[in-house]
Amino acid sequence: MPSSQRQILVTSALPYANGPIHLGHLVEYLQTDIWVRYQKMRGHECWYVCASDAHGTPIMLRAQTEGISAEELISRVHKEHDQDFADFLIEFDNFYTTHSEENRELSSDIYTRLRDADHISRRTITQAYDPEKEMFLPDRFIKGDCPRCGTKDQYGDNCESCGAAYSPTELINAVSVVSGATPVEKESEHLFFKLADFTELLKDWIHAGHLQDSVANKLDEWLEQGLQDWDISRDAPYFGFEIPDAPGKYFYVWLDAPIGYMASFKNLCDKKGLDFDHYWKEDATTELYHFIGKDITNFHCLFWPAELHGAGYRMPTNVFVHGFLTVNGNKMSKSRGTFIMARSYLNHLSPEYLRYYYAAKLGAGVDDIDLNLEDFQARVNSDLVGKVVNIASRCAGFISKKFSGELSSEIHRPELLEKFTDASDSIAEYYESREFGRAIREIMGLADLANQYIDENKPWVLAKEAGREQEVQDVCSMGINLFRLLIIYLKPVLPAMAASAESFLNVPPLLWQDINKSLTSHTINRFKPLMTRIESSAIEAILEESTSTLETENEAEDKTMTEAEITTPLALDPISDEISFDDFVKLDLRIARIARAEHVEGADKLLQLTLDLGGETRNVFAGIKSAYNPEDLEGRLTVMVANLAPRKMRFGISEGMVLAAGPGGSDLFILAPDEGAEPGMRVK
Ligand code: 2FM
Ligand code: ZN
Repeated sequence: MPSSQRQILVTSALPYANGPIHLGHLVEYLQTDIWVRYQKMRGHECWYVCASDAHGTPIMLRAQTEGISAEELISRVHKEHDQDFADFLIEFDNFYTTHSEENRELSSDIYTRLRDADHISRRTITQAYDPEKEMFLPDRFIKGDCPRCGTKDQYGDNCESCGAAYSPTELINAVSVVSGATPVEKESEHLFFKLADFTELLKDWIHAGHLQDSVANKLDEWLEQGLQDWDISRDAPYFGFEIPDAPGKYFYVWLDAPIGYMASFKNLCDKKGLDFDHYWKEDATTELYHFIGKDITNFHCLFWPAELHGAGYRMPTNVFVHGFLTVNGNKMSKSRGTFIMARSYLNHLSPEYLRYYYAAKLGAGVDDIDLNLEDFQARVNSDLVGKVVNIASRCAGFISKKFSGELSSEIHRPELLEKFTDASDSIAEYYESREFGRAIREIMGLADLANQYIDENKPWVLAKEAGREQEVQDVCSMGINLFRLLIIYLKPVLPAMAASAESFLNVPPLLWQDINKSLTSHTINRFKPLMTRIESSAIEAILEESTSTLETENEAEDKTMTEAEITTPLALDPISDEISFDDFVKLDLRIARIARAEHVEGADKLLQLTLDLGGETRNVFAGIKSAYNPEDLEGRLTVMVANLAPRKMRFGISEGMVLAAGPGGSDLFILAPDEGAEPGMRVK
């Protein structure tokens, strides 16, 4: 192995095996696939593994509703996902399943190691139970009237109307979503992973400098609030793995899901003769990256590294967190036809258009990306068809017809070629750091230069003039060489177009290092159009297909709620559901005077504020210590949410929230009202 060759293991989050892949999922798989293809082009050893996330209550219930076994359901959905991924040119080295022997063994083994190291505790808890279906009910499988405002048909954990958070036992007229029966309370012993044992380890890992800043900040906040024991068991009936020393109890799906990354890799190792331990042992020198969405940050940046370490394995090198997808500026919506399934898209358009558009929009941050369908069409048509493919189509005809496909023996403008090759380092750096949008901008800047070169040299004019054949060949050969470099740069994003270009150029599969070569006295093949324009009718057809599935998909959604939706306690600020104007006006925003500001013992980020609301005072904990000295705050006016329900924190009760904005660290600004504001005034 050359000393510069890296050994990298990459994962994307495992898709639940109970519903179709949609364009929102694809942000992550495409982001990862582009990154992996780039690493492979660089000559690194890079393995990309994934699997179906096959366990959990929603999958068990969905199979029952369909009248099939859970195994049948997950195997059917696995095949559908596999086909969707393949058709989007997402090239896993292994797409496995968490319902595998490898995963059963690894999960049991990790659990046993954690237990033997005293990181597992047992205690009895009381939960809602469906006496008819004879199963415990996750909060989201119970509905009833809100105990605070009385709104009907609310889930067991919070009210969508007034925002109250409560336990399912407080719901009025509660019913089990599964059977319609009235839930009863029932005790059961559960197993817990003692996450707090790893607080110091996680603090160090978070600040070892690899996580994105906003992710590290969010994790700090969670650590600040104190880590709770994590319930890793579920009672039968449950579709999953039975816990070795707890008959009738099963691992919670989120325990064995990330272990599924290891299991998928183990399965690959067995097939290919790779060394599993080389990638997973505690002191591994190989690299491990997980690409995930921001909603599952807690599972990957708290539970998972702690589990790995506690069981004697290496921790991830990094977790790359991305944002969500909006379509035309809004959450994907079935009524607008923008809840688009992978298959509906593929029925009408080539995968590479979307690969290109997502790449053009993606950066290294956790911001959401927007698929604006008009912009999508315009950008793909203008960049790929109008700029990149156009270079080859303008030059290829002359070379084939007039020179039997042979390129000139010399490069016409070496300095222009050099400009293209010189860009390779910065484009490489952009790919490496997941700044794909920047890479695309730079590549398109080069495409503009290539077109400008052809416009200036006008081979179509030269071709009509006697005695200028050589120039025609030189200019067109130069154009083809520039096109070839653009194809190398775009290959991680557009692998199929690159393959067609390779056969047109009559060259073996292009690697990054081929940037340093050029094609002289080389025979190319006849040019065939590499890509056609996106027609509006195709986009309309996709929207229509997505709207027409409205009813069936809504039904499916009700039954395919994810485990994460059911029990995710900590999420990294996903854009939440729209709220109505009526909800918005319920916020009571008031001017408050900071009467006192003090440090909180043991808290790295919090300040304790005593806020004067013009008579009434409130105690509020605010995570603004990184930006303010307490003494600088006293006497200042700010804006607070005054009607937020009091929240119990590790350091006391917080009775409201101070509004602040900014990326974090020292750039965090509390909102300051105009002069003339008085404590207690309502902000409108
Ligand atoms: O949120 C989800 O869709 C989960 N199925 C992701 C699991 S990722 C991993 F940890 F297994
Ligand atoms: Zn309510």
